[in-house]
Amino acid sequence: MTLKIVVLSDLHLLPEGELSLGLDTSERLRAGVAAINARHGDADFCIIAGDLADLGQPDAYVRLRDILAELTVPVHITIGNHDDRANYLAVFGADKAAETGFIDKVIDAKGYRVILLDSAISFGRHDGRLEPEQLDWLADRLTEADDRPVIVVLHHHANPLRTAVDGIILENGLDFADVLNTHSDIRQVIAGHVHYTSTAIWQGIPFTTLAGNHYNVTIPLGQPWQQPERLTGPAQMAVILADEAHTLVHFDNYIDDSRIIPREA
Ligand SMILES: [Fe+2]
Repeated sequence: MTLKIVVLSDLHLLPEGELSLGLDTSERLRAGVAAINARHGDADFCIIAGDLADLGQPDAYVRLRDILAELTVPVHITIGNHDDRANYLAVFGADKAAETGFIDKVIDAKGYRVILLDSAISFGRHDGRLEPEQLDWLADRLTEADDRPVIVVLHHHANPLRTAVDGIILENGLDFADVLNTHSDIRQVIAGHVHYTSTAIWQGIPFTTLAGNHYNVTIPLGQPWQQPERLTGPAQMAVILADEAHTLVHFDNYIDDSRIIPREA
């Protein structure tokens, strides 16, 4: 019994006719939805890890709802720093807020507990935070999970990546890790936000970032931190395959200028 989850992130949608850094982010999301339907229609569900909108406008959320209507697998959503929580809830429904008041959620499937956390502070703030009531809520959800394996998805990276994006990191990542470490089987903590792919073990926990739907970036390591160059792609989703003994994360690029090498070559 394998749990299959597709994770999309950093959609950065805008109202009809508007581009973000020259990219048609809605067209890119349509390509992502088509790729999921074609290649991952057997997924149990899809998660979107925030930055649904680029500038938080209500029209962007209406557009998101319309594009997701084409998706053939169920979808669970949380928000990021480019989102406006009130505008999101106005379009998707007030019931999308958890008892914390944030866009937090629990999904139990195939022996796993999957937890979405809303790490956005307020519109215009690019760093992230989990509020004390969210950390308490998370602790309770982890206690309930008992010995089931857990996957957590949130927008902001909690683990330092030693690049310029650490200027907009989850500000209380150590508090978050302390709560996660009350559970003995955290299989993955997956984030978007940074627009590039990374994996790490930090505080004894596996952390992963995916590149997402918007621009990708070069990775300028070294001091002083440089701002990365923005790249038109690849656009990327994460595909999680999880059973009792194994939690695997693939990265599936759905917009990529690479060409297939013919087999006869
Ligand atoms: Fe972000």
